[in-house]
Amino acid sequence: MNMWGGIFTEPPSALAHAFNSSIAFDKRLYKHDIRGSIAHAEMLGKCGIISQSDSGAIVAELEQILADISGGTLKIDESCEDIHTFIENELVARIGEVGKRLHTARSRNDQVALSLRMYCREQNREIWKLLNALLDILDELAVVHADTIMPGYTHLQKAQPVTLGLYIGAYREMFLRDCVSLDNACADNNSMPLGSGALAGTAFPIDREYVRKKLEFRCVTRNSLDAVSDRDFVLELLFVISTIMLHLSRFCEELILWATQEFGYVTIAEAYSTGSSIMPQKKNPDTLELIRGKSGRVFGNLSGFFATVKSLPLTYNKDMQECHEALYDSVDTVKPCLYLFAEVLKTASFHTERMHESATAVGGYMNATYAADYLARKGIPFRDAHEIVGKLVNYSITHNKRLEDMTLGEFQRFSDKFEADVFDAISITRSNICS
Ligand code: ARG
Repeated sequence: MNMWGGIFTEPPSALAHAFNSSIAFDKRLYKHDIRGSIAHAEMLGKCGIISQSDSGAIVAELEQILADISGGTLKIDESCEDIHTFIENELVARIGEVGKRLHTARSRNDQVALSLRMYCREQNREIWKLLNALLDILDELAVVHADTIMPGYTHLQKAQPVTLGLYIGAYREMFLRDCVSLDNACADNNSMPLGSGALAGTAFPIDREYVRKKLEFRCVTRNSLDAVSDRDFVLELLFVISTIMLHLSRFCEELILWATQEFGYVTIAEAYSTGSSIMPQKKNPDTLELIRGKSGRVFGNLSGFFATVKSLPLTYNKDMQECHEALYDSVDTVKPCLYLFAEVLKTASFHTERMHESATAVGGYMNATYAADYLARKGIPFRDAHEIVGKLVNYSITHNKRLEDMTLGEFQRFSDKFEADVFDAISITRSNICS
């Protein structure tokens, strides 16, 4: 049954009904919709807009519907237009006339705004928990590898020695920022829109404060036109999820590179790898590749919904229904990605000797900056020191040696400031790594 049959003289086209319908995806809002309706019904009774006994009957039946859907005894009928219609129809089917009073002083426009806000808040907190579980693993790994020396890169070229702890710590910083962004998104999504009606509020003497408190929002929305047409809170969550996926994709890429034979810094556990149907020797880091790949669709959801909202006039427009799938897809994508990425990290074996070897190998010259700093400490202007060490490195390349393999005499061909202590100064040891 539609909610708007009165003025219509023709039945809806089946195709248009299916096209219009959002229940296939918004059915996941059933809890949020019912919680919102319960608060609304209680408020209607308390304010004398409907009788206390009607309010009590509506609330009790809504609780029952909630239990029945959650328990699997009530199947959501997907022939309804959306989840809001389904719940209300079910209520009316169960308690008749009284159920029809629930929609007093309310529109689906403020109703869906409320359900979506509640959903975003709930999912925000779930993502936050997964992010924190990942942060715990990063914290542990950063401590374990505080002294594990490895090459640091710029332009993906060997640059200066760093520790694996520092490297992992860099990703920790990104995910910490994401936690803050989630908190901010939650704080921004803290206004209760019910009471805005379809667009112009309601003439009934409602108590929005009551509903606000009951549903644990910090304030009520101030402008009814804005409240029913605002989906910024969806965009904000989509943005934070995109940033999380961006950070995950970078770490994935790094681990995929490190897992190649060329790097050999890490082995991904077999549980998170797959083989090839033709090449028997292969173990591919598919889980990481998929996480990296899925970042694209999440960015697409964000930019797609941005484009949908662009230029929409006030107030509610059906275009806004398009946010649901973008939102659900991003939420459903980021959660397993966070969980699986944490598992991949937890079970990965880092080859610390190979990292050390790579940091100290002939040809890397990762201590060249140490040598330039050494000369600068001996009074040579850094620019000149840089030039001298550049020549020194060229010489070492020609002789296929590392800087530390040269004799003091060879060093002194380039500057008389080099003394025996240069060997300590350029050694690739933990104490020479500044951070
Ligand atoms: N399914 C709709 C949505 O998600 C609910 C609001 C419908 N409002 C309306 N005026 N048709 O946007």
